[in-house]
This record gives sequence, C-alpha cells and structure tokens, in this order.
Amino acid sequence: MRNLIDILELSTEDINGLIEVAEDIIATPEKYAEACKGKILGTLFFEPSTRTRLSFTSAMMSLGGNVLGFSEATSSSASKGESVADTVHMVSAYSDIIAMRHPKEGAPFVAAKAATVPIINAGDGGHFHPTQTLTDLLTIKRKKGSLNNLTIGLCGDLKFGRTVHSLIAAMSRYSGIKFVLISPEELKLPGYVKYEFLGDGKIAYEEIDDLEKAMPELDILYMTRIQQERFSSYDEYLRLKDSYILTTDKLECAKPDLCIMHPLPRVNEISVKVDEDPRACYFEQAANGRFIRMALILKLLKERDLPDVPRVGMSVEGLSCENPRCICRTEQELPPLFRCADETHGVYRCVYCDQKAYSKKK
Ligand code: CP
Repeated sequence: MRNLIDILELSTEDINGLIEVAEDIIATPEKYAEACKGKILGTLFFEPSTRTRLSFTSAMMSLGGNVLGFSEATSSSASKGESVADTVHMVSAYSDIIAMRHPKEGAPFVAAKAATVPIINAGDGGHFHPTQTLTDLLTIKRKKGSLNNLTIGLCGDLKFGRTVHSLIAAMSRYSGIKFVLISPEELKLPGYVKYEFLGDGKIAYEEIDDLEKAMPELDILYMTRIQQERFSSYDEYLRLKDSYILTTDKLECAKPDLCIMHPLPRVNEISVKVDEDPRACYFEQAANGRFIRMALILKLLKERDLPDVPRVGMSVEGLSCENPRCICRTEQELPPLFRCADETHGVYRCVYCDQKAYSKKK
C-alpha cells in the first residue's frame, strides 16, 4: 500500500503486523535508530495538534530521519489561497512521505491523488483519524492482550469525533465486540458510520445517554472531548460541553481491569483525580502514538511502489455533496464524485467525505 487515508485500507493482517513492529520498537529501539537515515517526513498541519504532529516528528527522528513542515495554515501559502493539491504537489518534491491534517473532510484523499510520495491522513475534519486508531489498537492490545471479545463504551461527541469513527471501523472487524454508544441526542453517531459498520446486526451495539448505567459492563471506556471547533453555534456548544465528566465516584461500579482511554486533548471531561487511578490509560495511549507511527512510516516507505487501495468515484448527474465541511466545496475544480453505497435504496455517498448525498427513497 502507498497511502493511509482510511483505517480500512489496512487489512487485519496489516494492523496486526504494525502492532507487532511497534512492540518490537518498544522492546529494542536501538535496532531502528537509523532505519530512515536520509529520509524526510513532511508534516502539513492546517489545523492545530500537539500529539499527532509531535509524535510523527519524534517517530521520524527516532528512525534517524528528518522532518520539515508547518503547524498552521496561516504560516503556509494556503493563506494566500493555494489549493491542497498544489501544496502537496510541491511538498512531494521536498520530502519522502507526508503526514497531513486538514479541517476539510476528504482533503487527504485529494492530497493522495496529487502527491508523488505516500500520504498519511493525520485527521480530516470530523471524518477519520486512522493513526489515532492505530495508537488506540496498540494500547488495547497491550492492556487487554487481544482485540477480540471486548465491550467498548464510546462516550461524548460521537457525531464529530473522528477518532470514534475510525475506531468503530477498525474494531468492527474483530470478533465478540460490543459497542455501547453513550452520547446526548444531538451528538449521536452519524448514520453513515452506523450503516457501514454496525447496521443489519453486523456488530452488537446500544445507544444510551447515561454513562453510569453503562459503566459496570465496560472493558474499555473511550472518553471524547466535546469539540468547540466543530459547532456552528457557540450556544449549542455551551449547552452540551459538560454532558459527561468522568470522576472517581463514577468509577466505583466499574470493572477492576477497565481501561480508560481518551485520544486527548481533554478539557474537563475527565477529572484530573482520575489520572491517579491505575485504570487511567490515556497518557500511555498518547505515548504509544510515537511507536505505532514509527511502524507505519517504515511500512509505507517500504511499500511505496505497490499499487494503492482504489477509492473510486463517479459523476452522477444533478448530484452534489451537501456537507459544508467537505473538501469538494472549496478545492479548485474538484469534480463531485460519488460511490453507490446501497443499490437497492439508491443511496450514494460522496467519495471525499462519505456523507450521504442522495437517496431515491428521500
Ligand atoms: N489525539 C490527537 O489527535 O491529539 P492532537 O490534536 O493533539 O494531535
């Protein structure tokens, strides 16, 4: 494979292989210290980041390589109106591999088409965040010993939480998984994620709004931040922002081996007192990000000449993407492209952002 845009481009064998390499890196880092000598990672962050950007930087440096890039759109020529495609086309000439974060959903897919080097999606809007998912999977594997037979509670913003969408997509491939989706009505999991990964009895799941009720059965509790930057109304954000605050009291009825995860940053959805609980895994989770990203960089540089996983779309007359966060709304001369997601019901999805574009039943 050449790029990583969506976690599902990795097979279960690929994921298990990456976890194995990451665990070997943790055990014997000196073996990898010069594995990327002479190679350059471009980090194009059009949106703020601490963990993802710095763990990618640390990963490449730990492999003996170098890093260049920018940490905000305003310090790049995107602020002068340069397109994603042109930016990536240029940075391909300066680097061997690129990690990119962008607020527009589908931007990394557009980048992958324009680049001549591998592209890694480091988060696109509320869509996907596959390297966070690899970090999460490594953490679950190290804490639980397996990725099967787990009840996973996902709590908070399940609507815009891209880490949640990618984690559901990845974990839906394993056996004995049950999801408990804990959110306010306004922040429930989007239909396209439910339809693609959980629908029609594919995976056991329930949707509730009460965290304490769910707590006793959970093996994993994955907390998320209510993200102010995804709301169009500040009042709506204020109303929902404290929907869930995990405190030590609420953990009294939890399993003794519960694993509490959070992609971070947290604002106040986990009390700092919980940090002292041995079940709090989120800082260790963030630390694991460096090792799995090292494994991913090695894999993509090794496989850069292999054919890419095809993501094919077609033009459909009269159909346009209605998602205001989709890259197809802002990128120059980008044709609207769709894939038929459900032939029986005539459902199409935008090939860039995956949002439903049309249903004959509408
Ligand atoms: N988890 C995560 O993506 O953190 P950053 O936004 O700090 O990169």
